Amino acid sequence: MRFEPARGLSGVVRAPSDKSISHRAALLGAMASEPVRIEGYLHAADTHSTLAAVRALGALVEERGEDVVVRGTGLREARDPEATIDVGNAGTLMRLLPGWLAAQDGRSFTLDGDSSIRRRPVDRIAEPLIQMGATIEARDGRFPPFEVQGARLRAISYELEVASAQVKSCVLLAALAADGATTVGEPARSRDHTERMLLRAGVGIHRNGHHVTVVNTDELLLDRVTVPGDASSAAFLVTAGVLVPGSRLLIQNVGVNWTRTGFLRILRRMQGIVLGDLEEETGDLLAEEPISELDVAHGVLEGTVVEPEEVPLAIDELPLVALLGCFAEGETVVRGAHELRVKESDRIAGVVDGLGALGADIEATDEGFAVRGGRGLRGGTIDARGDHRLAMMGAVAGLASREGVEVIGMDAAAVSYPGFVSDLERLCS
Ligand code: S3P
Repeated sequence: MRFEPARGLSGVVRAPSDKSISHRAALLGAMASEPVRIEGYLHAADTHSTLAAVRALGALVEERGEDVVVRGTGLREARDPEATIDVGNAGTLMRLLPGWLAAQDGRSFTLDGDSSIRRRPVDRIAEPLIQMGATIEARDGRFPPFEVQGARLRAISYELEVASAQVKSCVLLAALAADGATTVGEPARSRDHTERMLLRAGVGIHRNGHHVTVVNTDELLLDRVTVPGDASSAAFLVTAGVLVPGSRLLIQNVGVNWTRTGFLRILRRMQGIVLGDLEEETGDLLAEEPISELDVAHGVLEGTVVEPEEVPLAIDELPLVALLGCFAEGETVVRGAHELRVKESDRIAGVVDGLGALGADIEATDEGFAVRGGRGLRGGTIDARGDHRLAMMGAVAGLASREGVEVIGMDAAAVSYPGFVSDLERLCS
């Protein structure tokens, strides 16, 4: 699909629903005993994989207009599925679901997914779940397909090696059915949607600095979840607005939980014009997911350095920081982002090769990249490598380029933001 240089994006657009929160709402819905109504569930390939998975495990899922209603099985009563659970391309599903499955005493479950999923490590969730008493057997000890054998779980204290919301959430879900209070420590703060939703579900959960403690429980009390717009999906629209001269757009319903808005803070430091009320950093756990409107305009940018502790709070938007860096004065450097190598694709290689082919002066480092900016992008062809975020980055690069960009594999965007191309077309017309 080709994206020609745009003359400016303008108008009002509603951010698509949040992928992370949709996965969690469906999973907690399946773990609850009473029906949970999810308003604004994301209808995209990844989150449909989650609905299919919880159905296979015995939850009833009904679509009622825009909403999805899940009637779960309770914490310890997931049904034996007839076949392997297919997580498709969804890393979040693959890492969170085993937390619930590990608590299904005496039953075993096999999970597998697409070719991208098969190169994503699961040893990071296997280790804590094994400590809690479950058995996990993975291909080569660390890749899908893998089998989870449930058990009566022990409460543990566990320090994460990498700041990963997926691994943290997996342990927190398993902890619900353990025999006491479980504590998880993270080396840096990561997104906290699971903690907020558990708090709303009446679970005893509290935070102390980088540690979260969850008390075991018999049931989740969650009757309704409203899913806000996805800050990561909105970031592609924000970047287009900032980079294309003449742009001015309003993005509505954006989730602004501070653990998701690291990208907007980085962009503001680069002098990007993005107005909107972002949630302030909080020490205490909150139950709500705040939303805001973002008012975005084109402007001149300055390079910046993204430090390791900022990385988990902007992890999915770092390809966009590289793209912004191509247009910013001076150098833009991302440090401490080794995790990008194990996303839907190796995103350090994909960003550096992809933007390099469009004319960027960019180089990879072990744990990130460095861009010398100020000259924009010529254009050319970029291969999305089956990765939705690289596909969408390529599209935005095309709008901001001098000669246009052809994206190979634009259909990858369907896993998180199926309406992306039509939203861009409308904003550009
Ligand atoms: C996610 C956490 C992040 C992120 C992913 C979604 C989540 O992964 O990259 O797209 O919903 O918890 P990690 O926890 O592996 O960093």
